[in-house]
Amino acid sequence: MKQLLLYCRSGFEKECAAEIQDKAGQFGVFGYCKLKANDAFIIFEAYDGAALERFFSDFPFSKLIFVRQWALVIGDWLELPAGDRVTPVLETLRSVEEGSEISSIGELRIEYPDTNDGKELSTLARKLTVPLRQSLRQAGLMLKKENLRAPVLHMFMQSGQKALLAVSYPENNNSLENGIRRLKFPSDAPSRSTLKLEEAFLEFIPRDEWDTRLASGMRAVDLGACPGGWTYQLVKRSMMVVSIDNGAMAESLMMTGQVKHYMVDGFKYKPEKKNVYWLVCDMIEKPQRVGQLICDWLINGWCQESIFNLKLPMKKRYETVQEVLAEMQQRFDEAGIKVKFQARHLFHDREEVTVHLCKA
Ligand SMILES: C[S@@+](CC[C@H](N)C(=O)[O-])C[C@H]1O[C@@H](n2cnc3c(N)ncnc32)[C@H](O)[C@@H]1O
Repeated sequence: MKQLLLYCRSGFEKECAAEIQDKAGQFGVFGYCKLKANDAFIIFEAYDGAALERFFSDFPFSKLIFVRQWALVIGDWLELPAGDRVTPVLETLRSVEEGSEISSIGELRIEYPDTNDGKELSTLARKLTVPLRQSLRQAGLMLKKENLRAPVLHMFMQSGQKALLAVSYPENNNSLENGIRRLKFPSDAPSRSTLKLEEAFLEFIPRDEWDTRLASGMRAVDLGACPGGWTYQLVKRSMMVVSIDNGAMAESLMMTGQVKHYMVDGFKYKPEKKNVYWLVCDMIEKPQRVGQLICDWLINGWCQESIFNLKLPMKKRYETVQEVLAEMQQRFDEAGIKVKFQARHLFHDREEVTVHLCKA
């Protein structure tokens, strides 16, 4: 297999391409990307299929930022007649050489691009899933029972008539359908931004560590807090929060007694004591400036973990993120501090990425 199918947010195809070419290149895998603006997916074609497969299994998916999902492409785009969309899939899979991973498929996902046109395919995708799964099992192309440890078959529909098949491995892919974590907006939250921090917690902090890392009673600082969507997430977890912003905080949060609101500059505020665990920051500022501020907090021991956004209104978004993260790494190296980085373009992020830092 020589091609990777990669999903991203619509409008971020160039970032997705820059990222995969950079990471694959560092791994010694070279190729080129096929993409169209706003398609919400790209294809990376490698010159060497075996090298691509090695990269796909050995490079950690979690290190990718703009790529929502990746899968190795099987065959070419399929034409799907409206009356029988199953047969072309079975034929393609049968034509793949024996002994490949295809015969041990444990899960089927019928997916589509995250675009307005793509979303119209959701009903068709749902309707097609059961009959296709049954046919795959009858044909011996899929395990009899769903197995979330076995390879995943993605049928990526670009339209009702056109689809691409691809396979990914559960130990190194996005476990969510379409690579998207949908969350319900809590009706009492002061802003939709709240979903960004909720998604970041779900993405970056393993569930079985929430009791110690997102624990009640912890102290948190929220820079650029107003009207309070991120503070809401911290308050909901029974933390004590200092919220910094010149704007107005939602009254409902102030009433909880868990929030202190200071109308000061987030770049000048310093905590009174070294008892803050979480620093979160959603200030609209130059990403380099935010990166340096977060370094100050971790290096000075003013917080233990941080989640922050890097706003990316510029053209070279991938390059900017790489530069900022490299500058931060250099500061930590100079200070002799080991910090674990995770960064992702979350589903609820727009022109920004979310970064998580944790002292190792
Ligand atoms: C995107 S909004 C934050 C939304 C917030 N996270 C929420 O969930 O409701 C950005 C905020 O950063 C604040 N801000 C920008 N620069 C700041 C600075 N230097 N100091 C403090 N706040 C700042 C703005 O006033 C604005 O309220």
